[in-house]
Amino acid sequence: MQKKWSPDSWRGMPIRQVPDYPDQAALNAVETTLGNYPPLVFAGEARSLKAKLAKVVEGKAFLLQGGDCAESFGEFHPNNIRDTFQIFLQMAVVLTYGAACPVVKIARMAGQFAKPRSADTETIAGVTLPSYRGDIINGWEFTPEARIPDPQRMIQAFSQSAATLNLLRAFAQGGYADLHRVHSWTKGFVADSPEGERYEELANRLTETLDFMAACGLTSETTPQIRETELFTSHEALLLQYEQALTRVDSTSGDWYDVSAHMLWIGDRTRQPDGSHVEFLRGVKNPIGLKCGPTMPVDDLLRLIDILNPEDEPGRLTLIARMGADKVGDKLPGLIRAVKKAGRNVLWCCDPMHGNTITSANGYKTRAVDAILREVKGFFAVHEAEGTYAGGIHFEMTGQNVTECIGGAQAITETSLGDRYNTVCDPRLNASQALELAFLIAEELKKKRSGDSRKRVAAAE
Ligand code: PEP
Ligand code: CO
Repeated sequence: MQKKWSPDSWRGMPIRQVPDYPDQAALNAVETTLGNYPPLVFAGEARSLKAKLAKVVEGKAFLLQGGDCAESFGEFHPNNIRDTFQIFLQMAVVLTYGAACPVVKIARMAGQFAKPRSADTETIAGVTLPSYRGDIINGWEFTPEARIPDPQRMIQAFSQSAATLNLLRAFAQGGYADLHRVHSWTKGFVADSPEGERYEELANRLTETLDFMAACGLTSETTPQIRETELFTSHEALLLQYEQALTRVDSTSGDWYDVSAHMLWIGDRTRQPDGSHVEFLRGVKNPIGLKCGPTMPVDDLLRLIDILNPEDEPGRLTLIARMGADKVGDKLPGLIRAVKKAGRNVLWCCDPMHGNTITSANGYKTRAVDAILREVKGFFAVHEAEGTYAGGIHFEMTGQNVTECIGGAQAITETSLGDRYNTVCDPRLNASQALELAFLIAEELKKKRSGDSRKRVAAAE
């Protein structure tokens, strides 16, 4: 029997990755202020997302979750939001049209500010300072003042999230996402890449299909599915003071929802079954994610599933495996088998980013596109072998033409990493690399579908 939950029942439990705020009174004041702010999302929207994720659990759709590793105050600009949104649309078109699979889109945006760190301090040239923990907590600049946690940053993060979400809603529903604009979403620097050309071909075929549909009477005016799209938001629920302040009772259902985003996830460093982060998220009714790294013990996973989804509600819990390309084949099958044996409803999603971070010879934190694609293929292969559904992908990308991940069709080399290395946190896929990933997934989904139909024919014979 679980103890009673309340929005503050996480306080006093073991907690990791927590900032040390020097001014407690200022922190309390900010929490009170945020507690009086309006919700960023509605409980009904979170419920609708849960229902869509339940369709993914059934194998009838695919989850596309991605965006920045960390949003920042410095990079806040409508063009950046637009560019990331465009890549999302392009990836979704590749999957929906290329693989004929409905796609549920969740952005790591409008709230993805807090970052778990592997070390509490950072040392540069003999000077040691507290680590940077994301713009919602402290500053990236390497000075003692910038690294002091400042609660006022939560207010700025909230207002940036509200403005970002407002723009995303307008892009999704205001005509920008109309499928007739499929050609206009390609950025100049992508157009000449091999992936850009491949996308162009697909967009031409889609345009022909739309012409045919228009001849049948299905146009943007008559069919909202052509004119609009739906994009949900998500972030890691790491800074619990912020999350608690934005947790409210939904007047329709009487349940608690964290209204800072539609979906929240627990990071690989804060997933202790008896820890604060698990305690907080078990009580809110949003769909939630749980990162599963290579050190996740099978028993912990089963316990976490019991704690986080006691009623075994499909769509409630997404397990985001982030094993690394070399470990996915060894580590994932055991977890999948245990969950399958326990008969639990989960959505299996692949994060091919966080298990594949390396340091280049010239000192950049980077990821090889090859390793990322290899982990995705490994993830699909394991699910095929286990008879389970590979339901989604979780990735870090930006619409900018950055040089942060090596390899890919553009063949970014170690020496060119320095050209446009702009991330304040993890290396992100650029627009062409993100498209490459989408094409690979489309191939895997098509392969699975033709395999399934062959099995059906064989069974009928
Ligand atoms: C992240 O998603 O940015 C992250 C830190 O992931 P993980 O918890 O899997 O390391
Ligand atoms: Co990251």
